[in-house]
Amino acid sequence: PAKLNEAISPLDWLLGNWESVEPGEGSFPSLKPFRYTEALHFTQVGQPIINFMFNASDVETKKPLHRECGFIRMQTGTNRVAFIVAQNSGLVEVEEGELVGKQLSLHTHALARTSFAKEPHVKEVSRVFQLRPDGTLEQTVSMSTDKQPMTQHLHITYSRLP
Ligand code: HEM
Repeated sequence: PAKLNEAISPLDWLLGNWESVEPGEGSFPSLKPFRYTEALHFTQVGQPIINFMFNASDVETKKPLHRECGFIRMQTGTNRVAFIVAQNSGLVEVEEGELVGKQLSLHTHALARTSFAKEPHVKEVSRVFQLRPDGTLEQTVSMSTDKQPMTQHLHITYSRLP
């Protein structure tokens, strides 16, 4: 593996492969609650950037569902983080936020979608990644749509794969 670029060393705890321990919990006012599994991959190649891929699947059928991939950058000399993401639903986003300890909190800064994206349309996303004292990683995602105010959509905990 390439030598870690110092610019992203505050985020080194994300690097590697993660898999949901127990199924994640999906929710939203307009949806029947659902469960899912998810694998996360965070890699680096010596650039001041973390590359990521998130692949979610149906708990029972293992059918691939939601997928996201993108890049994480940090503003030099600060705790500001940019999370640049493309989602298979046709949504692309720049999320920005702050790293405090081992908690990364992000919120939509810019968003675009394909002209024929399914409705309702996402307006804003907020997400938090947190490394817990027991070494597991937690992700919580909330969103608003043109039909619903900001409400939790996802909560999931991952453990690190060897
Ligand atoms: C539904 C957005 C991640 C599973 C939806 C809806 C939106 C949305 C806008 C429609 C809500 C409505 O009808 O009112 C997002 C965004 C995500 C995300 C912005 C990431 C930031 C995920 C993930 C899963 C997932 C990781 C895991 C499997 C579902 C399911 C539905 C749904 C099962 C309901 C069925 C469907 O509409 O396909 N999501 N989602 N979502 N989402 Fe997500």
